[in-house]
Amino acid sequence: MRRQALRRRYYDLFSRLYDRFVTWHSGEPTGPMRRALAERATQVSARRVLDLCCGTGAVTWALAETAPADTVVVGLDFSWGMLSRGKAGVERAGCSGIRWVQADAAALPFKNGVFDVVTCAYALYELKGQARSVMLCEVARALARGGRFLAMEHEVPTRRLLRALFFVRLWVIGAEGARAFLGGEVQEFGRVFPRVAREVLPPGKSKIVMGAKAATPPEADQATCAR
Ligand SMILES: C[S@@+](CC[C@H](N)C(=O)[O-])C[C@H]1O[C@@H](n2cnc3c(N)ncnc32)[C@H](O)[C@@H]1O
Repeated sequence: MRRQALRRRYYDLFSRLYDRFVTWHSGEPTGPMRRALAERATQVSARRVLDLCCGTGAVTWALAETAPADTVVVGLDFSWGMLSRGKAGVERAGCSGIRWVQADAAALPFKNGVFDVVTCAYALYELKGQARSVMLCEVARALARGGRFLAMEHEVPTRRLLRALFFVRLWVIGAEGARAFLGGEVQEFGRVFPRVAREVLPPGKSKIVMGAKAATPPEADQATCAR
């Protein structure tokens, strides 16, 4: 519990620099990659959309812009620092109607089957210990039948300095298994979702991994998440 509080504190502090860090790291805080994720998420009609580990809300915002006006868009993060910056930025830009929720992604405060689409950008690999597999089961639980989970992840940086900083950061936040996960997302998703696809986006620094929940009950009940 204390470690979770420390991690939250780390993200609260990081939120002050986060958008600038992302611009330096990838050249695009709210640009084409996150927008591509939002566009793929909303290309099939969805009434309720959840953006997990939403940080300062770049994807949440793009979801609100690309989805039909009556879509409910929820941004969830455990860091109040990240959420409050996201909320302020989106409101400054005149976009309203996003609901912001402070919660742990591994214990989603939602009923079963309420979301048509769940997104998560650049966060799964940072989750610690069992949190990632628990969160995948939580996502499957919160998704409606036939719903989709789209996660955007990094390809590990090839430039030496960025690669070194990337691994230092993983070490600081204690993201165990992150290196293995970044190469094995399809297998990890396959333990929870019956249909999985992976798409690397140009210029090859990011990818989207999609897991779809079955439309009918028997196939959907994966052993990994049996409760
Ligand atoms: C690298 S940032 C990604 C933010 C955002 N999705 C984006 O595209 O910029 C990772 C985010 O995950 C959040 N996070 C990490 N562990 C979490 C957890 N267990 N539950 C909820 N949020 C978490 C952090 O607070 C942070 O905002």
